[in-house]
Amino acid sequence: MQKKELSRRRTFGIISHPDAGKTTLTEKLLLFGGAIHTAGAVKSNKIRKTATSDFMEIEKQRGISVATSVMGFEYDGYKITILDTPGHKDFAEDTYRTLTAVDSVILVVDAAKGVEEQTRKLMDVCRMRSTPVMVFINKLDREGREPIALLDELESELGIHTRPLTWPIGMGRDFKGVYNLYHRRLELFSPSKTEIADDSVLIEDIASPVLDAQVGDAAASKLREELELIEAMYEPFDVEHYRDAYLAPVFFGSALNNFGVKDLLQTFVSIAPSPQPRETSARVVQADEETFTGFIFKIHANLDPNHRARIAFCRVCSGSFERGKFYRHTRLGKEVRFTSPTAFMANERSVVDEAWPGDVIGLHDTGNFKIGDTLTEGEDLAFKGIPSFSPERFKLVVNRDPFKSKQLEKGIQQLTDEGVAQLFVRQQGNEKIVGTVGELQYEVILFRLREEYGATADFRPLNIYKAFWFTGEDEEELKRFMQLQQRNIAYDKDEHPVYLPEGSWSYDVVRENYKSISFHSTSEFKME
Ligand code: G4P
Repeated sequence: MQKKELSRRRTFGIISHPDAGKTTLTEKLLLFGGAIHTAGAVKSNKIRKTATSDFMEIEKQRGISVATSVMGFEYDGYKITILDTPGHKDFAEDTYRTLTAVDSVILVVDAAKGVEEQTRKLMDVCRMRSTPVMVFINKLDREGREPIALLDELESELGIHTRPLTWPIGMGRDFKGVYNLYHRRLELFSPSKTEIADDSVLIEDIASPVLDAQVGDAAASKLREELELIEAMYEPFDVEHYRDAYLAPVFFGSALNNFGVKDLLQTFVSIAPSPQPRETSARVVQADEETFTGFIFKIHANLDPNHRARIAFCRVCSGSFERGKFYRHTRLGKEVRFTSPTAFMANERSVVDEAWPGDVIGLHDTGNFKIGDTLTEGEDLAFKGIPSFSPERFKLVVNRDPFKSKQLEKGIQQLTDEGVAQLFVRQQGNEKIVGTVGELQYEVILFRLREEYGATADFRPLNIYKAFWFTGEDEEELKRFMQLQQRNIAYDKDEHPVYLPEGSWSYDVVRENYKSISFHSTSEFKME
């Protein structure tokens, strides 16, 4: 039973620079899976530019993002789970953490824009974790860059080898379709935003006049030339190279027109990895082990202000999760049980009795969970690979209402447990420093403190360059460093000391003076 459930599961994330077409592609995948029936059913979880000054908009979009952040559906006997990631760069940490819960990734690239800023950053994370990547080059119905140039750019900018599995014939107004190199099939383009057209023509021999008849003489000879070039340039496709995250298969299409999506989906289910082994503090956990393990990669506040409860998103890593059974919360060393775990199927949520590796379940949380927490059947271990990264901005929390300091304390603690931002506490004066990737998070925090906790606060900008976790063999030197730099040291959520230098120059001086100490820009050092 477990083996069968395992081998049919595909849990992946769709990533892209905003506007490349992530939402549109997600929707089309759900449409193919029969999980939704009309286009437009999936709302973008983009935080649009206007959101900075419109808090209700942020809240609304947060609501949308919780509904669509996990979408499960069945396709061709496979159980597919898509984990959506916020495109806005201020929420990059959220995206990085979500990527710890997937087994592979589909990267969407705009054919006209190629590799963009967020594409680069997200791919850095995938490379760091050796996550297998498939690429969908989107918007071929518009004029874009030459396909060969796009592949070159992917290789040089993202540091990954590519292998086209489909090849476009023309683009923009002259877009005729794609040739599937794997199945030797021509897919003819007919723009349609709502229907799933099936216009494929089998072409055993590329020299066949059928090709000319279908796409015209000029396009046919250009395709023949390009295919010859591709065959000469690329090794035959090797699935293992993809699974080892060495090579990314590339597909071309137009998500908006449902085009090229089926090729992508069919190849995806047949070659994408099923749930993978995961490292923990004690040992590597295999997905096919009998006993249940899982970890929390995301926590979301309930939108209903009358209910303080939150939803913790748990990725099942091994065994099976059963409703109502007691599990061990390893950080707290306590037994917990969940009477109404939820599964996320397309846009619906329903209570589940059982879940398998690769599945994501929503657990009702009254404040017991932090991001990265592990659940087991009793074994003491903690899943690794859910690091905190150094924030880019740092601000001091200033209480504006002395009568509400308890509420503020609780609010800051819970919001940072949720992963909205990182909290660092300076021992001197118990000062609380909140670190974020972008300005938008501070606005979200102030708004939520007011709305959900009744606390009024401000943030005072601090002159901090970055956060560095540190380690050292020489106890004496470590002690001296911590004493002399006391003012620049604070403690993170796990009560590990973190060095917060004022500028890159002071960081340089410190490194020069304390040669035995190593500084790390993520909380999990081995990942650097
Ligand atoms: P994102 O989630 O990656 O941010 O992108 P999203 O899917 O929201 O798509 C961004 C814009 O690109 C949308 O247009 C969408 O309709 C368009 N788009 C997606 N796929 C294609 C494609 O294959 N061809 C073309 N021509 N356009 C595509 P918008 O005008 O910003 O939004 P909307 O008003 O259409 O929703």
